[in-house]
Amino acid sequence: MNTVWSKPTPECLRRAGELLRRGEPVAIPTETVYGLAANALDGEAVAGIFRVKGRPQDNPLIVHIASLDQIPQLTKDVPPLVYRLAELFWPGPLTMVLPRSDHVPIEVSAGLDTVGIRFPAHPVAQAVIRAAGVPLAAPSANLSGAPSPTNAKRVWEDLNGKISLLIDGGECEVGVESTVIAVGEDSVEILRPGKITAEQFQKAGIKVTVNPAVERGLKEGEQAASPGMKYRHYAPKAELLLIQAPLEAFRRYLKENAEKDSYALVFDGETELTPIPCLTYGKKRESADQAHQLFERLRRLDEEGARKVFVRAPTRKGVGLAVYNRLLRACAFQTVTRYTPLVVGLTGPTGAGKTLVSDAMSKRGAYLINADQVAREVVKPEHPSGCLGRLSELFSGILRSDGTLDRGALAEQAFSDPEALEKMNGVCYPAIFDEIVSKIRKSDAPLILLDAPTLFESGCDVLCDVIVSVLAPADVRLNRILLRDGVTPRQAAARMSAQQDDRFYTEHSDYILLNNGSKQAILDKIQMLTDRLFAMTGEEKEE
Ligand code: TXA
Ligand code: MG
Repeated sequence: MNTVWSKPTPECLRRAGELLRRGEPVAIPTETVYGLAANALDGEAVAGIFRVKGRPQDNPLIVHIASLDQIPQLTKDVPPLVYRLAELFWPGPLTMVLPRSDHVPIEVSAGLDTVGIRFPAHPVAQAVIRAAGVPLAAPSANLSGAPSPTNAKRVWEDLNGKISLLIDGGECEVGVESTVIAVGEDSVEILRPGKITAEQFQKAGIKVTVNPAVERGLKEGEQAASPGMKYRHYAPKAELLLIQAPLEAFRRYLKENAEKDSYALVFDGETELTPIPCLTYGKKRESADQAHQLFERLRRLDEEGARKVFVRAPTRKGVGLAVYNRLLRACAFQTVTRYTPLVVGLTGPTGAGKTLVSDAMSKRGAYLINADQVAREVVKPEHPSGCLGRLSELFSGILRSDGTLDRGALAEQAFSDPEALEKMNGVCYPAIFDEIVSKIRKSDAPLILLDAPTLFESGCDVLCDVIVSVLAPADVRLNRILLRDGVTPRQAAARMSAQQDDRFYTEHSDYILLNNGSKQAILDKIQMLTDRLFAMTGEEKEE
């Protein structure tokens, strides 16, 4: 069969409608992943999808609609909550599992008495449904078991020659399949997580539970609420292993376990720290970005020739749960957990009370790396970074007669204009980064505290598994700087305004310690946080 790969022109949409009405499948873009669509009211047409994909017969399909008017025909006795959810989340990446009407052929629901319904947001998907004039059953447009396709090229690789039309709508925005929910009278249960999150239902005042199989495999003899969740799935040809560990523990694991043709899948900015070939799948704290990239990365790993892949586990918060869920299945539930060493980055603007925190935490047993101290170490003449030599090429008169750095002379030149400062940082930050990495690697402490006023500027934030910022009201900070540093109020104000604002710290941190009360109050907060961080280094192992 000849597969036509076409942009969604009016002619192409007309052709798609024709093919679909005739019972043939067509590959279409949606906002989540590409779908392989067929007339949902035609059992024969639906059976064709299963054949093309090689899909297990017991895995039901989602029916796609382009108007709420299509619901009554497909379902019966729907709870009123459905219309509230439709109002909130449709069109969009949400599938509702509802009681099935007799018009829906048995092939669609694989024998269940329910049917999954979704109103996609993608304009091309909607146009195709309208062109066909019928609701469309559509699984992801991949061969069964492979990662879902998020662009037309990947559909082509899997289905070329097996279907007659592939409509190219560009890259899919979401990147993982829709959230699948069972809808009750006044609550929902997430059967498959996606872009629409548990937090969003909660926010809308709707009770929500997450089916336990989302975060683990099925137990023996357990019935799958959503049959698609029971298989190894979304998987490249390589064997995957999901590693839940802080970055340095992850690296140590790779060092011990990687073989020839092993790859790692890590977060942006971690490539240099990974001792084997690797690909990235987005920033550590940006789950939507990870979701968008994940399936494409899994396919890329095959192209790279990876035989075994060690994957950095994502957070399970928000859309992260969907990313975690897909990875867990791609790994066929093979996971490894390590808790130490945990690297905690400590930062915050000057005068907020960072030193109080680092003193208290190191007294409780955290191994302290002080970035200011490291900054002084790397500019010593004997330091292997060669930092001092490069600085003296850039700035004149900064060496004392004994060959050591005249810090005052350097500061005077570097802080005189932004360009000079950038030059100095360009030499010092990489050296500081490398030295901190080597200190982390040498340490065998379970918890490492990296005290760094310029944690983000120096790029050391990527080394941290947890980031804590200490903040305090501006007047409190001003007073503290005046008392501590013996500067004029103007100088103190200048220092304060040169730094990031509180909002920046809040957005980039996992924990905020707000130093706005008595000394005892902040000490209590520190103690609670320290306990929590230490607890993270010794958590009970999951089975
Ligand atoms: O985003 C998506 O949902 C994409 C695009 C194409 O719309 N479609 C998709 O379909 O992911 P598929 O077939 O790859 O996954 C359908 C999932 C499976 O996990 C299946 O078990 C579940 O939905 N499902 C479908 N009908 C169900 C039902 N009646 N009860 C429980 N789970 C159902
Ligand atoms: Mg699928």
